[in-house]
Amino acid sequence: METLLFSPYTIRGVTLKNRIVMSPMCMYSCETEDGKVGNWHKIHYPTRAVGQVGLIVVEATAVTAQGRISSRDLGIWSDEHISGFQELVSLMKEHGAKTAIQLAHAGRKAEVTGEILAPSAIAFNERMRIPKEMTKSDIEETIQAFQNGARRAKEAGFDIIEIHAAHGYLINEFLSPLTNQRQDEYGGTAENRYRFLSEVIDAVREVWDGPLFVRVSASDYHPEGLTVKDYVEYAKRMKAQGVDLIDVSSGAVVPAKINVYPGYQVPFAEAIRHGADIATGAVGLITSGLQAEEILRNERADLIFIGRELLRNPYWPRTAAKELGVEIKAPVQYERGW
Ligand code: FNR
Repeated sequence: METLLFSPYTIRGVTLKNRIVMSPMCMYSCETEDGKVGNWHKIHYPTRAVGQVGLIVVEATAVTAQGRISSRDLGIWSDEHISGFQELVSLMKEHGAKTAIQLAHAGRKAEVTGEILAPSAIAFNERMRIPKEMTKSDIEETIQAFQNGARRAKEAGFDIIEIHAAHGYLINEFLSPLTNQRQDEYGGTAENRYRFLSEVIDAVREVWDGPLFVRVSASDYHPEGLTVKDYVEYAKRMKAQGVDLIDVSSGAVVPAKINVYPGYQVPFAEAIRHGADIATGAVGLITSGLQAEEILRNERADLIFIGRELLRNPYWPRTAAKELGVEIKAPVQYERGW
């Protein structure tokens, strides 16, 4: 059977061998607090490349030390981080995967010591710290940090860059009126709340001409929050700025109860794909080959991001291929037992 899941996909000149993407997942596993790639990363990510994942997105990687979720997060805030990523990228590529990195800043959700930053001085909940409202120079420095991160990612050899604008981290905090109550040009109207992301995209695009993805939370799950309709409009702006794909997640902006079930975020990916005429990635409780194929065939998304199922089973592409009756090439070392 011919499937879409196992057919190649080309985006801005980069060809993935299939439509299976390893979703970015923090490992909180740096060996010290230096943000550098360690042994864990060098085993964990290349294993999924051996497992025949088409594109591996390395976890949220902090563009500033203060923008880490935890002190063991990966970082890309200095040139000293480049060589570790170079090694990691070449290990993944050796096994035929394309590589991406998610550039991130945790904003008010940072749990590191020292000052934490956000558009407005509002804590996520009563257990989390109150962030400092960013000044104009904080904003400029952070945009510069995203650009520096992109330049270093390029030097490390990544094929694709993803900007993390989801899950209530810094960029998402600017986008949502629930977390952004600024009175200046970065707050208020939808256009003003988009300004920070817009400037981050432009800054990254100055140094990066490869495929650019942005991950969004397409619903705040709150009566006064953003909905997928707002994100269709934001996606149109992103497309005009040269973003190639929207990776569509949801929630985590404010504490909210979310009813989750298989494929629960897929309708958001579908709405943005058709509403903004841009490629999308679907993610969230996608665990079977048939489910993935359904999403692609019905043109609900262009790529399938798999998170936890790839933690449980690094050879998930093989499992999905068997389910769909497709033969995929085994790594040569495993040919006798694939
Ligand atoms: C995540 N997720 C996540 N998302 C993101 O954009 N950047 C990140 O670094 C992380 N980190 C992370 C760590 C761990 C351990 C998990 C389980 C999840 C969310 C993840 O990418 C994915 O969107 C969700 O897990 C939903 O997909 P699955 O797991 O249902 O396939």
